Amino acid sequence: MLSGKKVIFGMSGGIAACKAAGWIRDLARDGAEVHVVMTRNAAEFVTPLTCAALSGNEVVSDFFDQGSAHLIPHVNLACEADLILIAPATANTIARLAHGLADDMLAAIVLAARCPVIVCPAMNSAMYENPATRENVATLRRRGMTVADPGEGALACRATGPGRLPEYAEVREYVLAALAEQDLSGLKVTVTAGPTLEPLDQVRYLGNRSSGRMGYALAATARRRGAEVTLVSGPTRLEPPAGVELAPVTTALEMHREVMTRFESSDVLVKAAAVSDFRPETVASGKIKKAECGLEIRLTANPDILAELGEKKGNSARPLLVGFAAEAGENLEEGKRKLSRKNCDLMVVNDITASDAGFASENNRVVILDRNGGEERLPLMGKEEVANRIWDRVARLRGG
Ligand code: CTP
Repeated sequence: MLSGKKVIFGMSGGIAACKAAGWIRDLARDGAEVHVVMTRNAAEFVTPLTCAALSGNEVVSDFFDQGSAHLIPHVNLACEADLILIAPATANTIARLAHGLADDMLAAIVLAARCPVIVCPAMNSAMYENPATRENVATLRRRGMTVADPGEGALACRATGPGRLPEYAEVREYVLAALAEQDLSGLKVTVTAGPTLEPLDQVRYLGNRSSGRMGYALAATARRRGAEVTLVSGPTRLEPPAGVELAPVTTALEMHREVMTRFESSDVLVKAAAVSDFRPETVASGKIKKAECGLEIRLTANPDILAELGEKKGNSARPLLVGFAAEAGENLEEGKRKLSRKNCDLMVVNDITASDAGFASENNRVVILDRNGGEERLPLMGKEEVANRIWDRVARLRGG
């Protein structure tokens, strides 16, 4: 996701430097070329050798430690960077950035840079809540920097409160958003994800194997590209992506209600959820005893949410409807039938029986069908990549 991107990883001196050092490897794993710039105090917590080994690049920590290749190192590094990520950002570093100081290499690089800057504060909660720090954070935000909200909990200084370095998964979203083209900005997007579970009694349910990964990938990538995203999700084991509004549901009827209330306000509706077509006719209280149950469960049909959305949309251009056809094998005919029957703009056909893709897998192999008979066949790829290709199509449709 970050290949070809040059990231300057600015580290200042706090105990969270130990945690942040792990992010150097995470960024490199995502393909970024990482250059670590440490303040003098940061080197008291993590050695420059550790950061050099993790990044695979020489660490910059002082104005005067470069060879002739970088005659004006802070200007060169600042010009070449695609992004600056500062983690941990101490109260002192935040104050120096807010005042435009250039008294060490990191501050000078930030001052000279034109690329996006992401700041991840980590400090004692009283220091974070001090009006001086609050004003400094507000100043950085006003100037266009992204300042992550610190996590709350037990801190290294034994205090409890805000001040923990955020988790990498959240910061990764800021990084990817800062580097993504904002071609979905201004759009309100609703994505459904995961399975629905239909209760039989208070213990048992009918469900399916959907992991929710495709829908969560769609929500995360849309957010990065600037959309305002609501994720209507059945039960999954996944963390909702940072910056996405979560509407949790369990049953198809609950999903139906949540989606329908968003019909008017959504510009795009994506139905990646594996909605249960049926539910038990009655839900028993307590736990059905073996003797009571027999071998028959009577089922009743759930509403077809996408078909209802399609009907409501009629001939209007908005909202744009994207469906998923879960098929055993590559059944494009069935995908085309569903696209037309449910009045969708795009139908993404995926083979849920493939051993290397589909349900519960990290990857997917799909064909995107459109209203004009177009078929875009994508090779096996990660679900975030598939999601980006679907958003490319949506952006093109929106642009006319
Ligand atoms: N869908 C829906 N409500 C349902 C069933 C499906 O909104 N009750 C949506 C899915 O989220 C998906 C699309 O319809 O976007 C196609 O779902 P799929 O399960 O492939 O098809 P079905 O219409 O259920 O048909 P079948 O099970 O016969 O293949």
